[in-house]
Amino acid sequence: MKDIKMSEKPWDGRFSEKTDKLAEAFTSSIQIDRRLYAYDIEGSIAHCKMLAKVGIITDGEASVLVQGLEQIKTEIEHGQFRFDDSLEDIHMHIEDRLFQIVGTVARKLHTARSRNDQVALDIRMYLRAETLNIIALLQQLRKVIVTLAKTNIDIVLPGYTHLQRAQPVLLSHHLMAYYEMFTRDSERFRDGLKRTDVMPLGSAALAGTTYPIDRHYTATLLNFPKISANSMDSVADRDFIIEFLASASLCMVHFSRLSEELILWSSAEFGFVEFSDAFSTGSSIMPQKKNPDVAELVRGKTGSVFGSLIALLTLMKSLPMTYNRDMQEDKKPLFEAADTLKACIEIYAAMLPTMKINRDVMYRAAGSGFLNATDMADYLVTKGMPFREAHSCAGKAVAYALRQKKELHELSLEELKTFSPLISEDIFSFLTIEQMISRRKSFGGTAAENVMAAVKETERQLAI
Ligand code: ARG
Repeated sequence: MKDIKMSEKPWDGRFSEKTDKLAEAFTSSIQIDRRLYAYDIEGSIAHCKMLAKVGIITDGEASVLVQGLEQIKTEIEHGQFRFDDSLEDIHMHIEDRLFQIVGTVARKLHTARSRNDQVALDIRMYLRAETLNIIALLQQLRKVIVTLAKTNIDIVLPGYTHLQRAQPVLLSHHLMAYYEMFTRDSERFRDGLKRTDVMPLGSAALAGTTYPIDRHYTATLLNFPKISANSMDSVADRDFIIEFLASASLCMVHFSRLSEELILWSSAEFGFVEFSDAFSTGSSIMPQKKNPDVAELVRGKTGSVFGSLIALLTLMKSLPMTYNRDMQEDKKPLFEAADTLKACIEIYAAMLPTMKINRDVMYRAAGSGFLNATDMADYLVTKGMPFREAHSCAGKAVAYALRQKKELHELSLEELKTFSPLISEDIFSFLTIEQMISRRKSFGGTAAENVMAAVKETERQLAI
């Protein structure tokens, strides 16, 4: 049997022709999967130790292999490693270099293993680490949001439905709505982790292996709480990636909604907020411009994360069991989506505290546009009128006030009384913004005491 040398393929035995250069470049994934090197090496070290433990290789051989693998890690980290398309992927690069360093014993490393279970292991290890990073970043962002809500607890702005002014709400309440969204995102990532954190190595190509391996031992070494149950599923499954991308997409939906609001709010038409100079850019032609580019880019990047989800769903759709080379295409969209999401969380956590909030503009906006019409109806209900009737009565008052170019609270008591004899002087305090907010005490409503309780509860959860 001939030795495998640098640049020769592990499948050379079966082949009589050299791989076409175009085919080599086309099938290579090294430029993308090279970033999995640390997981690949860690997985290989665990595999070596397991092989030694069950007596498939000797302890001496294992320690030679482990040392060689550690040297490769150092070489890659110091930029001393040569990447080359002819070696296809990170797995073959590492094995090939190992052969150069430790000689023929390197060829024992791949015993009871295939690149199919190896790549499944690497992505699971990568995604487990990235999911934990994302949960930690989301935790930071959630802290920023709670702190912002707390410091601005009493600022009032119009709450909207249909992008029409609806009822006054506290800005802190509005911010805490985003806290809820990002908390759910975080929970979804954590839930997905249960299915990512499963060890596939030892499934080999698809059917398992004839060697007396100890998969539980490998799992323990790599800190996996579980091993995969079916060797065919182990090498064919990419559900965990799709779940991650679905969670990432939903998280980006939330960012896109927040971005859209802040972009609107920073416009002259709203004037509710102003982004700090540090997070804005100007125009190369219009000197007066200050653009909300960060929020716009986050909104724009949402599309590429959705794209990754659709790419993976389409990639996996109709694939027959088990591993198919198509699946090599899973990494680029996954890496891109994870990188994008992390960047969006990071920039929002940094940008939000620097945003100037125009308290007075928000307050004025909440004071016009008949945001107290519901409260006028509620007032009549407190005087004994059925709600439907009260709604119609307040509606008539709104129509009248519109004709007079006044707000409801600007009408005189005499004018108001024409809509119902139940109305008296106390209606005016009922229609103030402060009253409207503080009366909304139903659980989850916008009353300041509720929002403060929500803030306190989340501070406890986040240990702020
Ligand atoms: N580079 C491949 C991938 O990322 C590794 C697995 C290759 N397996 C194979 N049988 N060709 O999917």
